[in-house]
Amino acid sequence: MLPAHQNIYFFSKYQNFKFFPIYTSYSETTNIDQILQRRTRDEHNKSVYELDENGDFKYGDKKKGVPLTDVWEIPYLNPKAKERVGYPTQKPLLLLERIIQLTTEKGDRILDPFCGSGTTCVAAKLLEREFIGIDKSSEAVELSLSRLNNPVKTSSNLLKNGRKSYLNADKYALALLKGIDFNPVQRNKGIDAILVDMKIVQY
Ligand SMILES: C[S@@+](CC[C@H](N)C(=O)[O-])C[C@H]1O[C@@H](n2cnc3c(N)ncnc32)[C@H](O)[C@@H]1O
Repeated sequence: MLPAHQNIYFFSKYQNFKFFPIYTSYSETTNIDQILQRRTRDEHNKSVYELDENGDFKYGDKKKGVPLTDVWEIPYLNPKAKERVGYPTQKPLLLLERIIQLTTEKGDRILDPFCGSGTTCVAAKLLEREFIGIDKSSEAVELSLSRLNNPVKTSSNLLKNGRKSYLNADKYALALLKGIDFNPVQRNKGIDAILVDMKIVQY
């Protein structure tokens, strides 16, 4: 199978490490009533909705959302992204920002002893943390310094608008391609049909 993920290992020397959950939106299939209505246990210890003296549902406290899971979708930096500085192993700022937000508070100090193009330092600066970056390559250090002077972050349209926003090929184009051996590539406008023998037909 084509590898499409990378693992991040999280270690702490101490038991009382910092960890601040990030909350995300509820999914489209979440039952809103179920999360808003407060629950209690009945005489058989069964979980039931709590009712007030008038028999109406009692509502719970403000909901924070769903804690971030351990599967993160962070798109690769596209080759034309403004954030790209040409460092071969450059990581997206979004990734480093998330790690920093989960594990540190404003004013904490972050060390990246292999900072490369300085992504960790830039993320730390944007999030008002102190930081130390080290790299054996003077080119990497210079690049990091220039990025720190002018931090550029690309926002991902995929994350902003969702995958479904790309699935808007017009039905007429799809109908024309019926019966042809092709893989559709859906875009913001129209559709590109990649024929199995690799010719591209554009509608
Ligand atoms: C994977 S890159 C880091 C990329 C970085 N995360 C970014 O977003 O650009 C690893 C870096 O470690 C540096 N490096 C390797 N061995 C090192 C060492 N012994 N001391 C300091 N830096 C080292 C390399 O020069 C390289 O820039």
